[in-house]
Amino acid sequence: FPVENIRNFSIVAHVDHGKSTLADRLLELTGTIDKTKNNKQVLDKLQVERERGITVKAQTASLFHNCEGKQYLLNLIDTPGHVDFSYEVSRSLSACQGVLLVVDANEGIQAQTVANFFLAFEAQLSVIPVINKIDLKNADPERVENQIEKVFDIPSDECIKISAKLGTNVESVLQAVIERIPPPKVHRKNPLRALVFDSTFDQYRGVIANVALFDGVVSKGDKIVSAHTQKTYEVSEVGVLNPNEQPTHKLYAGQVGYLIAGMKNVTEAQIGDTLYLHKQPVEPLPGFKSAKPMVFAGMYPVDQSEYNNLKSAIEKLTLNDSSVTVHRDSSLALGAGWRLGFLGLLHMEVFNQRLEQEYNASVILTTPTVPYKAVLSSSKLIKARRAVQKNMIFIDQNRVMLKYLFPLNEIVVDFYDSLKSLSSGYASFDYEDAGYQTAELVKMDILLNGNTVEELVTVVHKDKAHSIGKAICERLKDSLPRQLFEIAIQAAIGSKIIARETLPIFKNIFQYGGDITRKMKLLKRQAEGKKKLRKIGNVEVPKDAFIKVLKTQ
Ligand code: GTP
Repeated sequence: FPVENIRNFSIVAHVDHGKSTLADRLLELTGTIDKTKNNKQVLDKLQVERERGITVKAQTASLFHNCEGKQYLLNLIDTPGHVDFSYEVSRSLSACQGVLLVVDANEGIQAQTVANFFLAFEAQLSVIPVINKIDLKNADPERVENQIEKVFDIPSDECIKISAKLGTNVESVLQAVIERIPPPKVHRKNPLRALVFDSTFDQYRGVIANVALFDGVVSKGDKIVSAHTQKTYEVSEVGVLNPNEQPTHKLYAGQVGYLIAGMKNVTEAQIGDTLYLHKQPVEPLPGFKSAKPMVFAGMYPVDQSEYNNLKSAIEKLTLNDSSVTVHRDSSLALGAGWRLGFLGLLHMEVFNQRLEQEYNASVILTTPTVPYKAVLSSSKLIKARRAVQKNMIFIDQNRVMLKYLFPLNEIVVDFYDSLKSLSSGYASFDYEDAGYQTAELVKMDILLNGNTVEELVTVVHKDKAHSIGKAICERLKDSLPRQLFEIAIQAAIGSKIIARETLPIFKNIFQYGGDITRKMKLLKRQAEGKKKLRKIGNVEVPKDAFIKVLKTQ
């Protein structure tokens, strides 16, 4: 394919505005997939994506399209819309020269529409606004056109109005991709320079790297080097994604495709790495800014004998999702495990679900927390800051964009859901890191008969300590078995007790008399149970009790 007939583009949008549906129509229109009634989110390949109806992984498809007698190769990258996966979007854009910015004709510009526009704008990509769902009864494409002109400074006559669901006017989208997005600026005569922008692990074939070729050519049998590890590999297969893998003889600069080169270890195909030909070193491509995790949670195997299997599952999945950070951790109650960092709560849930569905792992995930920096001095006396308004922009008469500075732990757990229900689903939300701020935080201990339970020590805001402490004490009371003495369950800040529950005494079976074999059975069961107990002072705590208190609700 001559470079001038190649277009690399991505579809970006706010969640549910119809990216995946538009991708389906583009695949059909170019004959990449057969036109049947059942083509629904073809590029959403993961089980979790189909169950939740959302895209979490960017996917690539190469489409062939004839226009005015010329054959074009259009490489399409479908990207996720939810704020937690914006890292996937920014990575995908590095392989593109343009984007289709899809906006719902009824909802208009939303938080991720703005965030995605700026990602594309900063990457200097051509932006084609596509107003979707014009078939809806209350669609108001003219209003959305005006919003686009006002907020993004794109003339309203550049908007393409379509219904991805019905296929209305989708050909104009293809036409615009060819006319308005420039071909990639690449040099085929130069030595190979390929960017690894995604990778997956296949049990049988090892690492499959998705690559965008900036310079040169790569063929089966070539010896290539990873700029990151300096290791050399022999290429065993190259091909395009159509949208399934289709081997080809070569991949040329300007193309997007995949490459298999006997990389067995998941650390060998770093996303953002540059591949070049053996003995023809090149300047590595800039790669990617590493993702910054916002939410941390402990992950442990349900059974410690599963530790190694879970370790390898986590390694393989983080290859496919490099935005997750992994550090080894251990807990007296739950054994050896990891502390994982995620971009948000949905990201955490999806990662957990993928581990279970794609790797058959069963894990214990502890309540998520956000990172804090502690300064051990009197500066904590400074008054805590809650949300601080930064600015306000009117998108049109009906919609306003507000910018606030929030403590991360206030937005991480249920903020998005509360916002949605308070605004009856009208408000949308996007966030970026604003750095550390001083706040009145306290370390809260949980005590059992006066002894601290290390696993349950948390950092909370001073104003919320009482309600959180009370909730933990109640949960612990419900999950601890009664024992031969009364147990005081307390939450404390320093030496001050802020919440208390009391677990009453357990009536010993011998007090009731009765059948001796039944008693022996009960005693045996108790003894077995003890193996899984942890002693805190004189109180025995079964592993289940920790799991119930620590686990995500
Ligand atoms: P994420 O992958 O989760 O980011 O969402 P998405 O932007 O890919 O949206 P998707 O294509 O999954 O569409 C969301 C919903 O809108 C689905 O129920 C689609 O059937 C519906 N939808 C998409 N396009 C149209 C359209 O043109 N008209 C109407 N009426 N509905 C549409």
